[in-house]
Amino acid sequence: MGRGSGFGKAILFNEHFVVYGIPGIVSAIDSTASAVARRTGEGIRIKDERKGATGYTQKKMIQQKDSISRMLKAMSFDQEEVSLEIWLGGNLPGFSGIGASAASSVAIARAIADEFNLDLPDEKINDIAYEAEKAYAGTPSGIDNTAATYGGLIWFKKSVIGRSNTIKKLSLRKPVEIIIGNTGIVADTKAMVEGVAARRKKDPGKYDQLFKQAEDLAFKARNNLNDFNLRKVGELMNRNHHLLQEIEVSCEELDYLVNLSREQGAYGAKLTGGGGGGCMVALTPGKALQEKVATTMENEGFQVLKTKIGI
Ligand code: PMV
Repeated sequence: MGRGSGFGKAILFNEHFVVYGIPGIVSAIDSTASAVARRTGEGIRIKDERKGATGYTQKKMIQQKDSISRMLKAMSFDQEEVSLEIWLGGNLPGFSGIGASAASSVAIARAIADEFNLDLPDEKINDIAYEAEKAYAGTPSGIDNTAATYGGLIWFKKSVIGRSNTIKKLSLRKPVEIIIGNTGIVADTKAMVEGVAARRKKDPGKYDQLFKQAEDLAFKARNNLNDFNLRKVGELMNRNHHLLQEIEVSCEELDYLVNLSREQGAYGAKLTGGGGGGCMVALTPGKALQEKVATTMENEGFQVLKTKIGI
């Protein structure tokens, strides 16, 4: 029996923009997906027992099957000849936008490698999970699988000329509380990424300008994270949300939760992940503020994850 796990994540800056080579900042959160893989004699069977938003597991089933095929191929297995039972669990809920797919891919890749006694380094696991992510995201940047594989706080820049991506660990003076609020809408990252591509094609001038602003913001955010200037980090998150609204990946429910968090005193808030539903993240340093924002949201019937960045 082989075992593996992968980190959940919150993108703090520049989801979508990262697909085009703009730097992004992502943090692993202290919730993980776990997988167990066992050789059996009956094809590939998946038992997904993750706690999720209603419909998440169902809606992602076809993409999940495709992702496992892609993974096996990347691991040089002949799919016709491999029989596996895969169990998925862990304390990372199946919300859209917190890297549930990437975390599960990393967990499964590690579990399969363990079951077959393959000693795969993290770089290889990351590459395999990237292949798997294509099933969920179409043309993924690689930011999700990178966070799921390595953990920590990461500066990520995709190479747009086929070279290696830039992956740099950033450090925070100490972990900081955040909340992740779930709109309850299961979003399709692939459709959201395709939507941005189509709108950019129609109005390249507008998008070039927005990309420039997003790039600028990433560098400012990196400096302020480094200086532990959390007020400024929050302000930059607010500005990032505005840019994400401009590329039309937010929605009414996300904007509602973002505004609610700000009203309750969050230092900053924005959507996180693919948008169009899914989740938002609010910077809520200190247990008291975190609790206040989370409780307000829960009282309105939303699911909330209380976690930390910079773990
Ligand atoms: O929705 P998620 O958690 O899969 O996040 C996707 C992040 C995007 O930037 C929208 C896509 C990507 O591959 O970077």
